[in-house]
Amino acid sequence: MPTNVRDQSRRQFLRFLAGSPLLPGLGGALLAGAATAQTRYQNDAVLSGALQFKDLIERPDQALNVWDFEPVMRARVNAGHYAYMAQGADDFGTIAANRAGFAKIKLRPQRLVDVSKIDMTTEIFGQKLAVPIFLCPVGAQAMFHKDGEVAVARGAKSKNVLQALSTVTNNSVEDVRAARDAPGWYQLYSTSDWPSTLKQIKRAEAAGCTALAWTVDIPARNLEPIARFNRGRDPVCQECHGGVEDGGWSLRPMFDGLDMSTVRMGLDGLTWSYVDQLKKATTMKVMLKGIVTREDAARCLEHGVDGIVVSNHGGRADETGRGAIESLPEVLATVRGRVPVFVDGGFRRGTDIFKALALGAKAVGIGRPYIWGLGAFGQAGVEKVIDILTRELRIVMMQMGTTSLAKISRNSLELA
Ligand code: FNR
Repeated sequence: MPTNVRDQSRRQFLRFLAGSPLLPGLGGALLAGAATAQTRYQNDAVLSGALQFKDLIERPDQALNVWDFEPVMRARVNAGHYAYMAQGADDFGTIAANRAGFAKIKLRPQRLVDVSKIDMTTEIFGQKLAVPIFLCPVGAQAMFHKDGEVAVARGAKSKNVLQALSTVTNNSVEDVRAARDAPGWYQLYSTSDWPSTLKQIKRAEAAGCTALAWTVDIPARNLEPIARFNRGRDPVCQECHGGVEDGGWSLRPMFDGLDMSTVRMGLDGLTWSYVDQLKKATTMKVMLKGIVTREDAARCLEHGVDGIVVSNHGGRADETGRGAIESLPEVLATVRGRVPVFVDGGFRRGTDIFKALALGAKAVGIGRPYIWGLGAFGQAGVEKVIDILTRELRIVMMQMGTTSLAKISRNSLELA
């Protein structure tokens, strides 16, 4: 994007922030990382003042936690793209709940365990991975860095973590698979046209994806920041989004070669029988992403799903006020180990990841944190985000006296 357009759109976004009736919410949730750290320091007389290092990091290795990347990303990417990344449904209540949920679960350390060796390796659908952390499907990553999903794939390869690719990827599943050089997951947004959906599925399968995660949490939603940002300013977006006239399909390599002129993406009219259709259509594992209740967990089992992703879409779908970590126990209690249960939403610390694992999750997904890393420093930023969370998970595993994932249990938790 030309610099003058970028500057112009950043100025517009700042004006939009200043004029927004949501400003308190934006300060607390949209700009969550910076605000959280500030609040922590401000509440402590010694830390405030003494530890106010406000400069942005200039290199990934300077980052101390995943939030350090967020303001750098904010400064570097187009302001509208930042808003797209940060936004949540309605008043950002579910985004806030995703974070607040972790504070309700306390940890119970065990002393004097030999923790000189910590094993964080795991196996997911036959794939051996370095840590139980996966990169969530996030759409259109060229918005954040020119190398988009391929840069993320290279980062995932160097750290041997699982990458889930979005339907609305800017890089094809074939290119991403080649860059990752190992299997991954493909996230499916269903369309109103089964043949084009099937074509996508077959491409993902042929590219070697192990699992298909059908996202089911957006029958409808209300996202205001992008709409407010765009109000009356469409030309700024069209500078880059050449595909706006055709509904954006031309930006979507997973629909290349298909006539999408009358096709809509969404869940319109789809019900549980679609799971059966997906199961018949592919040899990949079929998972549902966006399950948050025991009722739906039971329906997943009835329809033979191979895995469940507990997720509220990072607070971008429905405004329930319930954190993903709070939805996890009832899903796990229903599933009782019959299929792996994954979770994402608000995970920012090793302790957050540990809590989900201790409840019984197989692995934990991160969305925005690696996008902050990508937007700030490309592949190197993604890698450092993974390193930070891995380091933090190692620390908490040592503190809890759990030397491998198999040793992590609810015994480490005190639930409020
Ligand atoms: C998403 N998410 C998402 N999910 C999905 O199934 N398909 C998609 O294309 C996208 N796109 C997307 C874009 C952006 C900018 C964000 C932030 C998120 C949701 C994502 O997979 C995941 O559920 C959340 O991001 C997890 O929450 P955190 O880690 O962002 O708090």
